Amino acid sequence: MKKILAIETSCDETAIALLQTNQIVFGQLEQYEIEVLGEATRSQIDTHAPYGGVFPTLAKREHAQYIVALTDEVFRQTKITYESHAPIDEYTKNYISHSCQKNENLLSPAMEFLSREQKPIIDYIVVTVGPGLAPALWVGVMWAKMLSQRYQIPIIPANHMIGHLYAALLSDTNSENKFSLTIPTEKFITLLVSGGHTEIILTDIQKNMHKKIGHTLDDAAGEAYDKVARMLALPYPGGPQISRLANTAREKFLSPVQFPRPLYNDSTFNFSFSGLKTAVQYYLRDTYSKSTPIPFEDTLRIALGFEDALIDCLIHKTEKAIITHSPSALACGGGVSANTTLRERLHHLAKKHTIPLHIPKIVHSTDNAIMIALTAVVGNPEPVSLENISAIPSVSL
Ligand code: KG4
Ligand code: ZN
Repeated sequence: MKKILAIETSCDETAIALLQTNQIVFGQLEQYEIEVLGEATRSQIDTHAPYGGVFPTLAKREHAQYIVALTDEVFRQTKITYESHAPIDEYTKNYISHSCQKNENLLSPAMEFLSREQKPIIDYIVVTVGPGLAPALWVGVMWAKMLSQRYQIPIIPANHMIGHLYAALLSDTNSENKFSLTIPTEKFITLLVSGGHTEIILTDIQKNMHKKIGHTLDDAAGEAYDKVARMLALPYPGGPQISRLANTAREKFLSPVQFPRPLYNDSTFNFSFSGLKTAVQYYLRDTYSKSTPIPFEDTLRIALGFEDALIDCLIHKTEKAIITHSPSALACGGGVSANTTLRERLHHLAKKHTIPLHIPKIVHSTDNAIMIALTAVVGNPEPVSLENISAIPSVSL
């Protein structure tokens, strides 16, 4: 049994979770029982919406403002046990002050929290070190280090995208806060589709291997959704908005506007969505005058045409990867995996190739801290010393 505190601040969600995990081995099958003891998440969507995307310095400020309160909330929700602990010493106080130098609004809640003379019984702190926005990542990393320094709890750095990958492998049990995590014993393929990344990963857990076999050459899928939404004057984040309009267009049997499918016929597993986004931009420029609003039905047809083109590319390259690598399973994770049409089409694809599909439930598709904790569950990663932990905004797999 391991108790893991997970911290996620890579983008616009401040998320904390406390998990208890237990490994069960059935023959070759690697399976874990995951109990979520507490979870607290605060979304910054309303803060960033007026900018049409995430504004890094605002993200940092809000993470710093709420991270301690969210941690406190998680501790209060759980049956966590404490042991009495020595009063905070001068070295730790200085460590906290120094850590909060660039985050003034973190200093006083952090000092107050860490001055309590009780130590939570936790085995590991897992924190997202990347990929993500540097100022945002640093808040989580500094908070993890302060907790670790005060309570002497080891830190395991987490890769956000690996978190999305493991979130796909979680399945429900008949208890609301318990899940099971089953790792395919043979190699499997994951389509990772988020706001910052779009990748196809070939994983072989036995060999501890996550190999990126395809990636976007420019915009990520979620980023393309967000940018096209902005062109259509829809609020951030654009994915759910465009998806809702495209679904309405399907219900009304409207014909989609035809947009290109970049890199569809090339020999790689790569994607390119910048050209698709520009095609939407040119279509709007050439079809409508700036002074008149776009008729609603046209907006529906544009959303449908864009989504069809983007999802066709995702499905086609994923199928190509399945044909080439004959994986034992298909998985999909990241914010865009919440998309209903993508989910349906992946189900068909997996069925066609007679392999299981692993996809997170909607709440675990977008950023959360449970997925970050999972990265420390599989493969027994080693803790890293405090001085060797830093945010790595463009970390790869
Ligand atoms: O993984 P995520 O929560 O954050 C990052 O790691 O980037 O992904 C956020 C992205 C955003 O671009 C958002 O527009 C997109 O996921 N997204 C969707 C849907 N829900 C969220 N895209 C398409 N359809 C959705 N239903
Ligand atoms: Zn994400």
